[in-house]
Amino acid sequence: TILIIDFGSQVTQLIARRVREAGVYSEIAPYNKAEEAIARLKPKGLILSGGPASVLDSDSPLPPMAIYEAGLPMLGICYGEQAMALQLGGGVEAEHNREFGRAFVEVTKPAGLFDGVWSVGERHQVWMSHGDRVTATPPGFEVVGTSENAPFAMIADEARKFYAIQFHPEVVHTPDGARLLTRFARDIVGCAGDWTMAAFRDQAIERIRAQVGDGRVICGLSGGVDSAVAAVLIHEAIGEQLTCVFVDHGLLRQGEAEQVVDLFRDHYNIPLVHAEEADRFLDALEGVGDPEAKRKIIGGLFIDVFDAEAKKIGGADFLAQGTLYPDVIESVSAIGGPSVTIKSHHNVGGLPERMKMKLVEPLRELFKDEVRDLGRELGLPDAFVGRHPFPGPGLAIRCPGGVTRDKLAILREADAIYLDEIRKAGLYDVIWQAFAVLLPVQTVGVMGDQRTYDFVLALRAVTSTDGMTADFYHFDMDFLGRAATRIINEVRGVNRVVYDVTSKPPGTIEWE
Ligand code: XMP
Repeated sequence: TILIIDFGSQVTQLIARRVREAGVYSEIAPYNKAEEAIARLKPKGLILSGGPASVLDSDSPLPPMAIYEAGLPMLGICYGEQAMALQLGGGVEAEHNREFGRAFVEVTKPAGLFDGVWSVGERHQVWMSHGDRVTATPPGFEVVGTSENAPFAMIADEARKFYAIQFHPEVVHTPDGARLLTRFARDIVGCAGDWTMAAFRDQAIERIRAQVGDGRVICGLSGGVDSAVAAVLIHEAIGEQLTCVFVDHGLLRQGEAEQVVDLFRDHYNIPLVHAEEADRFLDALEGVGDPEAKRKIIGGLFIDVFDAEAKKIGGADFLAQGTLYPDVIESVSAIGGPSVTIKSHHNVGGLPERMKMKLVEPLRELFKDEVRDLGRELGLPDAFVGRHPFPGPGLAIRCPGGVTRDKLAILREADAIYLDEIRKAGLYDVIWQAFAVLLPVQTVGVMGDQRTYDFVLALRAVTSTDGMTADFYHFDMDFLGRAATRIINEVRGVNRVVYDVTSKPPGTIEWE
């Protein structure tokens, strides 16, 4: 086990993920619980994360000195480097030339951390994001690499196996970062590297059993992969103590509700309540155009319906949710960091307070592709596990402006044609998410000598590995032409199709 000590970086979970990818189990503990976590987990190595604070502030988060005396190999990243430098007797200063984004480090001395990965004299691209920098090495350390604005970009104390680096090895913009973290986790720390998703599954099952005891759990199914994987996992852990509630808000894609019901009732035989409440949701959404207002209405009604169904089945002690890590990080602020709500994801927050139930969220640490691996591990059909993500508020946030039954019907039909063309072209699995958006804009066209005045449909497709950043998919124009022609010919109400070429950032994947 490797313990990751968190100082509130937005990308701490990426460190955990890279360590998992190296086949090593890791857990994250906040910096002020580090000592307890070391006692409990008995890790073989420590990683100190980055963070938004400055070690120079009087109230900056610093770990207890005991972590340095535990005799464990340690890797400090960014803020973690500065914390190590400061606490172990080096120097840190506020930076005049701050470095953000791509930078290059030059390896100046051999060090265990990059032995076999980088050699002396080489320059390598890394991702930096820091305002402070180390200005003096602590006793026992020496500089092993520099960058233009960080002369102490990499420092090492080989005797104690302490390494500290100014850049972020966990992000993809540091191309060799995963190899450095693997080198640390396996060779420096000495973990075996045989941890797998099967092990995660077994650990998760144990944790669910320990948390739930003989209590009753209800789980809301959304139609998507995450809640389905959470439900199947929990069912493996506690069997009949679980009941699933599928709130059908009438905002799903074509054929989706039927698939969910078939999968759960027939394939898995998991007790399932199918609450068909489309009218309630659509009535409440009438005339509402603001994206956050729509999200709040849907989230609120979802809770009402869920609550009522839960009462009907006699209540439960726990509420299970398929919350993933990106949902958590985009909806709440990290410790100490400024809180910025980008979107109120409707599966985090709200429900638990209202229902006074404890939460079971077994996927909270995972990224989407890891959830898919877990789903396969649990025997979910490939076609289901491989489905593109779908947002909780459903098609409502793909109808900018007001949502009506007519618009939803148009959108469903067009979306199904678009996805059909994507499947036929063999592109479904290389694309992270593809969908249509029905714009509240009508334009003039001509069809068979007749003037038309119909809606514009936008097509979106992105590649991504975790939904946190994304690039628009580069279709060839023939494909787009084919999809557009079919949609305009087959779907009444659409006479123009456009393609969205915005990446995230600055866009988000969904339009609302
Ligand atoms: P954005 O649009 O924020 O989306 O770039 C990132 C990923 O999250 C999905 N998404 C949601 N998922 N509830 C969910 O369960 C939500 O409220 C929600 N909003 C966006 C989106 O489809 C993409 O995969």
